Amino acid sequence: MPGSISEKSLIIEKAVSVLLQGQLVALPTETVYGLACDATNSNAVKRVFEVKGRPSHNPLILHFDSLASALPFIDFESFPDPSLAHREIETLAKKFWPGPLSLIVPRGPGVSDDVCNGGSSIAIRVPNHPLTLEILKKVGRPIAAPSANPSAYISPTTAEHVRRSLGGKVDLIVDGGPCTIGVESTVLSLLAGDAVILRPGGISSEEIEGVLKRPVSISSHSTSNLESNQTLLSPGMLKKHYSPHTPVVFLSEITPATPLPEKRGIILFSDRSVSIPFVEKRTLSDSGDLIEVANRLFATLRELDAMGLDIICVDSCEPKGLGLAIMDRLIRAASN
Ligand code: TXA
Ligand code: MG
Repeated sequence: MPGSISEKSLIIEKAVSVLLQGQLVALPTETVYGLACDATNSNAVKRVFEVKGRPSHNPLILHFDSLASALPFIDFESFPDPSLAHREIETLAKKFWPGPLSLIVPRGPGVSDDVCNGGSSIAIRVPNHPLTLEILKKVGRPIAAPSANPSAYISPTTAEHVRRSLGGKVDLIVDGGPCTIGVESTVLSLLAGDAVILRPGGISSEEIEGVLKRPVSISSHSTSNLESNQTLLSPGMLKKHYSPHTPVVFLSEITPATPLPEKRGIILFSDRSVSIPFVEKRTLSDSGDLIEVANRLFATLRELDAMGLDIICVDSCEPKGLGLAIMDRLIRAASN
């Protein structure tokens, strides 16, 4: 993590020039590290998909330093009610940006087709990290950045995570310290006039409702209905995702009759006792604070995944507020 001001400005300059050359930079955000590239450069975008092993139908989020920079890329006329959309986007941006909210909006001109597989919508967000905001401002172009992990593996919340899983394939890794939120942004679609959460994340539906002053629905691909087989609204919401190599099982699903292998790791959300023995135990928050749980979840899954355990048993919480994002990630991690 850069210390002095001159060190910071050198890193910012370097990241800007590498991005403008069409190369890939891992950037810190408050949610997870992103694998960033110039979204107007089709070759650079293609390389992001290649490096991640990501299916091309799963679109990328565009990152900007401010709403003002994002506005030219939104096709407001394609909203059912353009002036309402304008007002709502401004209200949401004022309240939540920079921060963990991505908005799905009609796609305007100027972004490579590869970002969204030629589709008519894009995801936009302003991330909350000082180094990255400065880089975005200096680049002056939309920056596409999926989480900097191999497709379907756990998202990285430190520069070291990126180094370990994508190291040789990325042109530059900017170390901005551990991510403060630790789960990805909430993906909110405003396309059809209603407000629908396609991926629960760092900002809850309750918080969004409080600002929009109208109901926000949660897509059937989120936790409550992961088995459903409908057309993917948010193509990234494939059921198996965020998965360690070690099998994951919920403690709540273990009964005395469940056959369990010997080398068990356990991840608890609060300081409590459990009846089954284990070889490794991690408690994400002494008090069960979900902000702390979210913050440490991915790093702890990665840590236990590297230990050669046979199984990782995980705690659960009510799927409400930030708990919805936590449970969404764990249900996907545990699915076969
Ligand atoms: O917190 C985050 O959002 C992080 C940081 C790096 O910003 N990024 C991230 O990107 O999580 P990624 O690519 O791992 O997830 C993007 C999600 C996927 O579920 C994708 O399907 C959805 O956003 N998405 C992107 N564009 C979309 C679109 N036009 N319509 C529907 N869903 C979209
Ligand atoms: Mg991802």
